[in-house]
Amino acid sequence: MPALIVLAGATGDLGHRIALALRARGARVRALVRPGNTKPEVAALRARGVEIVEVDLKDAAALVRACAGAACVVSALSGLREVIVYAQTQLLDAAVSAGVPRFIPSDFSIDYTKLPAGSNRNLDLRREFNRRLDQAPIQATSVLNGMFMDLLTGQAPMVLFKLRRILYWGSADQPLDFTTIADTAAFTAAAALDPTTPRYLRVAGEVATVRGLQAAATAATGQRFGCLRAGGLWVLKLMIRITRRLVPAPNEVFPPWQGMQYLHNMFTGLPKFGALDNDRYPDLQWTKVREVLAARH
Ligand SMILES: NC(=O)c1ccc[n+]([C@@H]2O[C@H](COP(=O)([O-])OP(=O)(O)OC[C@H]3O[C@@H](n4cnc5c(N)ncnc54)[C@H](OP(=O)(O)O)[C@@H]3O)[C@@H](O)[C@H]2O)c1
Repeated sequence: MPALIVLAGATGDLGHRIALALRARGARVRALVRPGNTKPEVAALRARGVEIVEVDLKDAAALVRACAGAACVVSALSGLREVIVYAQTQLLDAAVSAGVPRFIPSDFSIDYTKLPAGSNRNLDLRREFNRRLDQAPIQATSVLNGMFMDLLTGQAPMVLFKLRRILYWGSADQPLDFTTIADTAAFTAAAALDPTTPRYLRVAGEVATVRGLQAAATAATGQRFGCLRAGGLWVLKLMIRITRRLVPAPNEVFPPWQGMQYLHNMFTGLPKFGALDNDRYPDLQWTKVREVLAARH
């Protein structure tokens, strides 16, 4: 019988792709969705053979039942402390009680293990949850993928298509890790079905400097891109402080100042991956920045 993977957050952007990638690998997938969730993703998942279980993550007994029989529990939840620390702890406790051998938390980020506390609110929450995870009697694996490459054509204001510039702070030669959401999902699905994974897996579809992004944008659009240095890292830090004061948005998961914290972290070089695990599953292919920018163009 194919392995059963229990997946929380399957109606989300990353989560539904993990579900489909698991199905493509022949796994049985049980998606835990909020009671009454009527998002079209629920019907789409069901149509792809995903078992849908409506469960409130605060209902401990129901959660244990929902985790029963799984080879791995995967979380692709997104949120703040309520979700990343509290709801994931409920899920972890249920996985342990149900005797599930493995757990993959919703980390999917730059390498927060190398960052000082206080430098990124969302990554501090991941560190906090992972301390709990490390205490639990279960095999844990975190998938770290750098920044979602897809953000280069959306929320991350680095590739300025109209100005034909790559906006940056600090050094144009600092290597940065990027992976598409789809590639992260495909790798996570393979890792969920692999009982031999280590504590951390680090992947990057492309490691690019600002100069590399400049070359990729030029190749993708056929138009010559330049670089635009907005200042040193201290300028970005000051911008974060001002933006956070003006638009604190404390309940938003990704307010502008948090995205800026992410960029600041990346440009310091501290969370840069060392060795990559890209080749762990040889059937996987990695999308390049040029392809993502060309698709947007
Ligand atoms: N590295 C990067 O650059 C980057 C960028 C973006 C995201 N991420 C990470 O990727 C992961 C997934 O993010 P995403 O963008 O796919 O998120 P998303 O699209 O917002 O989806 C979040 C999922 O979590 C579920 N959820 C949230 N709170 C819940 C709760 N209290 N109870 C039950 N379900 C709940 C949502 O369910 P509903 O459908 O019911 O709302 C949804 O399925 C997160 O760890 C996120 O931080 C990384």
